[in-house]
Amino acid sequence: MSTALVILAAGKGTRMNSDLPKVLHPIAHAPMLEHALSAGRALTPERTIVVAGHGADYVRSMMADIDEDAEIVVQEEQLGTAHAVAQTRDALSDFDGDIVVLYGDTPFVSAETLQRMLAARQSADLVVLGFTAADPARYGRLLMDGNSLERIVEYKDATEAEREIDFCNSGLMAGNAAQMFALIDQVDSANASGEYYLTDLVELARADGLQVTAVSCDEAETLGINSRADLAEADRVFQQRKRADLMADGVTLMDPETVYLAFDTVIGRDTIIEPNVVFGPEVTVESGVFIRSFSHFEGCHISRGSKVGPYARLRPGAELAENTHIGNFVEIKNAEIAEGAKVNHLSYIGDASVGAETNIGAGTITCNYDGVMKHRTEIGARAFIGSNTMLVAPVRIGNEAMTATGAVVTKSVEDGALAIARAEQKNKPGRARKLMDMLRAKKARLSKGAE
Ligand code: UD1
Ligand code: MG
Repeated sequence: MSTALVILAAGKGTRMNSDLPKVLHPIAHAPMLEHALSAGRALTPERTIVVAGHGADYVRSMMADIDEDAEIVVQEEQLGTAHAVAQTRDALSDFDGDIVVLYGDTPFVSAETLQRMLAARQSADLVVLGFTAADPARYGRLLMDGNSLERIVEYKDATEAEREIDFCNSGLMAGNAAQMFALIDQVDSANASGEYYLTDLVELARADGLQVTAVSCDEAETLGINSRADLAEADRVFQQRKRADLMADGVTLMDPETVYLAFDTVIGRDTIIEPNVVFGPEVTVESGVFIRSFSHFEGCHISRGSKVGPYARLRPGAELAENTHIGNFVEIKNAEIAEGAKVNHLSYIGDASVGAETNIGAGTITCNYDGVMKHRTEIGARAFIGSNTMLVAPVRIGNEAMTATGAVVTKSVEDGALAIARAEQKNKPGRARKLMDMLRAKKARLSKGAE
């Protein structure tokens, strides 16, 4: 049976108080919509349709990055959840399979739960995802008769007795596309909100003699986001899950609560992470890496056996090969550090390549920017860059070459050569004592004058 995901994402999200459409707000660096979609992908959908409204153009451009096959359908006016699904009718006119309705602002439904909904479709025409709410608040209530779901009543339309029910509607629903559209045709807006409710499909299906059931999931999976506070809570929930997943996969997090992860962070087995480390987007770490405290990563790759930090910053394009050492207060951007190379202290390596087994001395800077353009620095293998070397790019340091401490290197250095580029030192015998005496005498005169 083929599946079409229909993701409802047209709502304004007023309580976010934002210019950004709600579903594009990020959780761990990925838009909410991408989280919702990632569970849906487990169903290997033939079609993915996002119903956008507020900020539709923005949603369209963002979706192009997330999933280039996804289609955007615009719901000009938000007349209710049934009306939203109805907007996909033309796009799905030649589709013969199941629709699974997801919400763009309910990002944490699990793939396993969606699979269970589809499994339940074997014996029911329509399947609704429900959950037992600790505080049912304003959710729609599911009116069950044994295994049969008879009706969903929205909070606003519910009687006191119905409001006592704690089995609630998540909003997610699965059914045959043609059947769902036929039922949607019968939905009206005669209710407390004057909206076309998707929830009405249940009662209409029962009236047609169709089977309807509910599948239940953990309440955490239905966490909906309406405010910045909800967004922060969602991030917290995501972090907890991701940390637990990584630890289950064999990663040591010494103080898990202090490690911040991104949606797409990948970390290999037997990597150890000290407290207080931040992973931005697009970071991959191989196995057996040791990451020390207060390091910050984004868009980088760290290979097996490397040691990084404390206080290291790896920016986009930093590629560390195996067994590299990156130490404290080192920033690396758009640079490849080859196997066994060391950059241990207080350095900036940007737009560069560093060869295997090369040692970069403390305080080395690749001067990559001339105020207008960026230039590259290439350093060969087994080279030795003396402390406080300024490598004025574009420049190349050969294999087994050295730069003397304090060098300002403006010309390339050939293989095996030593570059000395600093003023020569002169020692003046006795001059220090004389100078000190002069200065002390001056200070004494000045303080006498001040009396
Ligand atoms: C809906 C359900 C309710 C359920 C709750 C769970 C209905 C009638 N009610 O209520 O039973 O307990 O979700 O959170 O379905 N949307 C559109 N276009 C519209 C209206 C909504 O795309 O015209 C989207 C929203 O952006 C959102 C989702 O559909 O992602 C749900 O809409 P919302 O207004 O939040 O519905 P609730 O009142 O919360
Ligand atoms: Mg809602």
